[in-house]
Amino acid sequence: MGEKRILCIGLVCLDIISVVDKYPEEDSDTRCLSQRWQRGGNASNTCTVLSLLGAPCSFMGSLAPGHIADFTLASLTSYGIDIRHVSSHPGSSFPASIVISNITNGSRTILHMNRNLPDVTADDFQKVDLTQHRWIHWEGRNADEQIKMIQKVEDYNKSSAPEQRVTISVEIEKEREELFQLFQHGDVVFVSKDVARYLGYNSAADAVVGLYPRVQKGAYLVCAWADKGADALGPDGCIIHSSSFPPETIVDTLGAGDTFNASVIYALSNGKTLQEALTFGCRIAGKKCGLQGYDGIVS
Ligand code: FRU
Repeated sequence: MGEKRILCIGLVCLDIISVVDKYPEEDSDTRCLSQRWQRGGNASNTCTVLSLLGAPCSFMGSLAPGHIADFTLASLTSYGIDIRHVSSHPGSSFPASIVISNITNGSRTILHMNRNLPDVTADDFQKVDLTQHRWIHWEGRNADEQIKMIQKVEDYNKSSAPEQRVTISVEIEKEREELFQLFQHGDVVFVSKDVARYLGYNSAADAVVGLYPRVQKGAYLVCAWADKGADALGPDGCIIHSSSFPPETIVDTLGAGDTFNASVIYALSNGKTLQEALTFGCRIAGKKCGLQGYDGIVS
């Protein structure tokens, strides 16, 4: 068997991106600077970055068949991402987002469409051969099902030798109460600035301290805060901080958070310390903001 893979479970969607230098007025008729289709979705973007960093990785998500699926599958393949675990749902609409990327202030405004595509279930997850993975990352979505999947990995880990165990990470990005049960699961928990704010915290450091009692014993809790960098806390109780590394010119912030998560996972899975991983995450996420898309983040 080759090197064990990192598996990311969550959304793949189509991003229809319009680049503007001024956010359009409602009911106006303006030209954008450029427009492109790009494969999106947090788990799928995380795979893109892991793959660019050199980690063998797999994507598991749902697809509705059709030309958008063909586009996204071709893109996953072109990055060398393994897509063995995708389940297809005929009759569902493929999720898509309209993204307005403003190069003047670095904002990215996302309008989602995800009508009826079912998320990956614990039943789908039965097919995953855990012996082939060293890390599994869940983008928090259908948390009840995701917890069943995580429990399967926890059971597997209990009966495996330490070097065979699968590290578990979860991302809690959306301000949805259902997702907050994921705090207690995972060796590494990524909580977004939006969720931290929703839960009453005004900085990454306050968030990791305040939310740490929710995570399981021994876990790392990580929170990125855009241009303020990121903070993390582990079982030793020391708050770790990294500043951000903004590019000279901000080109595209879409997927910067996914890039950060991927880079932290990559570094930790290669035995780096929490501080090294956090700094690496901020550095690569900063680099990404200076690029359109992801290509070039490791050059
Ligand atoms: C970026 C992203 C986009 C997608 C949206 C889904 O983090 O994954 O690619 O449109 O978020 O929430």
